[in-house]
Amino acid sequence: MLRRLYHEQPESFAFTPANQAWAEAQITKYPEGRQASAIIALLWRAQEQEGWLSRPAIEHIAAMLDMAYIRALEVATFYFMFHLHPVGSVAHFQICGTTPCMLCGSEDLIGVCRDKIAAEPFQLSEDGRFSWEEVECLGACSNAPMAQVGKDYYEDLTPEGFAAMIDAMAAGEVPRPGPQNGRYASEPASGLTSLKEFESGRAPHNASVARALDLGDTIKRIDGTEVPLAAPWRDHGANHAPAPSAVVQNEEPVAITAKGARPGGAVPAPESEVTKTEERGKAGSAPAGGTRPATLDGPRAGKADDLKKIKGVGPKLEKLANEMGVYHFDQIANWTEAEIAWVDDNLVGFKGRVSRDAWVEQAKLLAEGKETEFSTRVKKGEVY
Ligand code: FES
Repeated sequence: MLRRLYHEQPESFAFTPANQAWAEAQITKYPEGRQASAIIALLWRAQEQEGWLSRPAIEHIAAMLDMAYIRALEVATFYFMFHLHPVGSVAHFQICGTTPCMLCGSEDLIGVCRDKIAAEPFQLSEDGRFSWEEVECLGACSNAPMAQVGKDYYEDLTPEGFAAMIDAMAAGEVPRPGPQNGRYASEPASGLTSLKEFESGRAPHNASVARALDLGDTIKRIDGTEVPLAAPWRDHGANHAPAPSAVVQNEEPVAITAKGARPGGAVPAPESEVTKTEERGKAGSAPAGGTRPATLDGPRAGKADDLKKIKGVGPKLEKLANEMGVYHFDQIANWTEAEIAWVDDNLVGFKGRVSRDAWVEQAKLLAEGKETEFSTRVKKGEVY
């Protein structure tokens, strides 16, 4: 495919201040003289901010990285993930058209795009809010047919369901990403035939869906304030934003997180307000909402439960819970909605993990001496 810059270009490009800080932090990942290695990350952030890559954006990034414009242009035009045309202001649908998806109906999905959005790929809908394109395999073949929107996947689509999804987005809603036919992940459509014991005690959503719900930026333009500022690969004292990869799925971001920074929140705190993991969530920190649950000064009989048996709780989250005065399954099992809200809000760096990973449901079983699928695996030493 011929990939050229769009015929109409904006006059200029600038990152938002938070994105600029994020981009500068990315550059520090690489040794002196290798700053150009940050090109993909910076182009991607520019696209997340604007929806597409304009010539001024590519040149701006080339200048930041001390690269010849042509080299940055080579990268932007080589990778299909970079949009060189303006896309819909609400959503750009990337429909996988490779064989498994095609055999499962992707051509019908493209038909929906032609009917509801525009006749041709990268053509904006009449209201400018939507656009679409056909792409090659996105690696979700077992959930074919599928479409990508932003960073998220919508899988197991039907033409009717996909059309309804577009309508929902047009109405300002964001349908839940992931399988759309009731599947949890990519298990057989008729249900599990083996490993059935893993069904009990699992989190409400698979990790990709949970992460998408956690971030909530499926169709959002990224201005840089969505993630806590940190640059854990640098010395303490950095005041820059982290790579998205610094925020991991089931465990904790590494080191420094600005208290109060959260998706959709304000620009994170300056260095003086940055709090280390060890200092988070101590008794007495101000709740932003909900009711603080009863806590203990120490574990009963000097022996705490292994909270890591709760799926989603790793060593750092366990330490954080202990620092809050939470040591036992029965404490968590008895939390009310308001108490869950308080803990969710005070797990700085891990906000929302209690409800997202269904701690209370898991803790209820564990407090009764039962095992969950996950705790069984912990006992067997399969996970740590
Ligand atoms: S063929 Fe569509 S995701 Fe692989």
